[in-house]
Amino acid sequence: MFWTRRKVLGAGLAALAAGHGPAFAGARSFVLRPGAVTARIGGVKQELLGFNGSWPGPELRARQGDEMRIRVENGLQDGALVHWHGLRVPNRMDGVNVLTQDVIPPGRSFDYRFDLPDAGTYWYHSHYISYDQVSRGLFGPLIIDERQKPDVDRDITVQLFDMLVDADGVYDEDTGPEQFTAAGRLGNVAMALASSDGVTVGERVRLRLINPSIDRVYDLRIDGLDGRIVALDGMPLEAPRAAPGIVLAPGQRCDLIGDVTGDIVFRDADAPDLGRIASSGQRPRRATAIPALVPNPMPRPNGREARATVVMQGGAGGSAHAGFGTWALNDVSGLPRKPLLNVRRGTTARITLRNDTAFDHVMHLHGHHFRELSADGAPGDYRDGTLVGAGEARDILCVLDNPGDWMLHCHMLSHQADGMATWLRVG
Ligand code: C2O
Ligand code: CU
Repeated sequence: MFWTRRKVLGAGLAALAAGHGPAFAGARSFVLRPGAVTARIGGVKQELLGFNGSWPGPELRARQGDEMRIRVENGLQDGALVHWHGLRVPNRMDGVNVLTQDVIPPGRSFDYRFDLPDAGTYWYHSHYISYDQVSRGLFGPLIIDERQKPDVDRDITVQLFDMLVDADGVYDEDTGPEQFTAAGRLGNVAMALASSDGVTVGERVRLRLINPSIDRVYDLRIDGLDGRIVALDGMPLEAPRAAPGIVLAPGQRCDLIGDVTGDIVFRDADAPDLGRIASSGQRPRRATAIPALVPNPMPRPNGREARATVVMQGGAGGSAHAGFGTWALNDVSGLPRKPLLNVRRGTTARITLRNDTAFDHVMHLHGHHFRELSADGAPGDYRDGTLVGAGEARDILCVLDNPGDWMLHCHMLSHQADGMATWLRVG
């Protein structure tokens, strides 16, 4: 099935005065009000959750260097917290229960305020009982434009989302035990939520792919675009890269720039038809190559080093462990009393992520981007989430320059809920 959402998604967005700060940077102010919404999905009326009456939440947009001010007004009957996934924010703005703030009670609000050092494709989502609240719709795109935008005709956000529905096509309230012991709560409808429903053949477009699904990994093929990957998890690649297939795990993003050759069709290995953006008309293609994006300002390793190992354990068919939950990291289910690492600001940490389970896991670090290391130790892409296959291991390298207590957890939210979480302290 497919679901298109035009630019009008900003209509549900209460944008306050976009005040002007210092000469260079501006401030962007938003109000996000999580609450109950009704949405039609698969032709069926659904009682779900959204922000500002919109399902899913509206796209928030600002420019690199701006200050973001977001008031979250809790319109739920339950607690609320919002996390700005992938943004390098001050710790107390990170939206994490216990580590950075208290849950916002119903009827109360919290003011988030932070600068935007990085351009790129990010997203926001509930970080409270997130396997449930995100699955009902408490998420949305968060796009930070470059000061110097690349030359494209259209900039389209595409969220890949799946939902479990019952025989009547209604959101399934049941949570069977397999949700928490195996690959998670995988939906039986999967969709591409695109911010545009039309393109012209020959146009150069930027596609910003986001995976807000709680547990599903997409193995994506895109027809109708002669494109290259220009960024992963918001961070520009040094050079555009060919994209025969794109694996997008929960929380991950991928930006492509390419020229339209026909209807843009999103296909997945398991859920073949995710949707399409129809093409019409024709215009001459650009003669120029796909441009690389300007890199974001990343910290460099400076010699102060630390090491840690995270062993992923548990689940059906996985290794035994001493934690109380289904899943564990280093024999503890849920946040341990002591952090995985306690280091001085600026320390470069090399962390081995070892998957001793029978399922894949995507490990997400808050407040930082890290580099994936290849088997011979060569630094690879910057990411904020890395997918580690069943039985595999990967090292990541991260300059921990953002002070505070930061979560490191599996972004398969059903796994996180049942134990796969730890944290780091940067002093
Ligand atoms: Cu996108 Cu801790 O989460
Ligand atoms: Cu997992």
